[in-house]
Amino acid sequence: MRIGVVNGPNLNLLGIREPDVYGRGTLAELETYVGEYARAAGIESRFSQWNSEGGVIDELHALRTWADGVVINPAAFTHYSYAVRDAIVAISIPVVEVHLSDISKREPAFRKISVTADVCVAQIMGLGFDSYLRGIDTLQAHVKNLR
Ligand code: DQA
Repeated sequence: MRIGVVNGPNLNLLGIREPDVYGRGTLAELETYVGEYARAAGIESRFSQWNSEGGVIDELHALRTWADGVVINPAAFTHYSYAVRDAIVAISIPVVEVHLSDISKREPAFRKISVTADVCVAQIMGLGFDSYLRGIDTLQAHVKNLR
């Protein structure tokens, strides 16, 4: 099984950016942690981070023919990007949305809204780095059920 792990805008600043909300771990540490978990489960993973909406969309398109599924943290695009939502629908492979923080409990109100979650197979949040691990578990179970 192959999965893409896609991170959206400002997540390159993990560890520096609002550590009380997002933790002190860096993006490189997140990628190592998640990559090792995937490898131990026999999954090949491909990581990327994009500050532009087009970058996220182009990567989703590229993953269409490479991956069996995607774990995505669309970051702020979660709350308003119909273009990212359309890309998730367009690629026709399962996508799980993850967040480090619990967006359902955060202010301001716009953070509680996800325009991408209902086209994903699941939304996992509030577990820090472990949100990505549960995202992989969910994707793996989903893909097994499809086979
Ligand atoms: C986030 C939550 C979003 O509201 C925010 O814009 C992010 C990170 C999270 O992982 O908790 O950049 O997706």
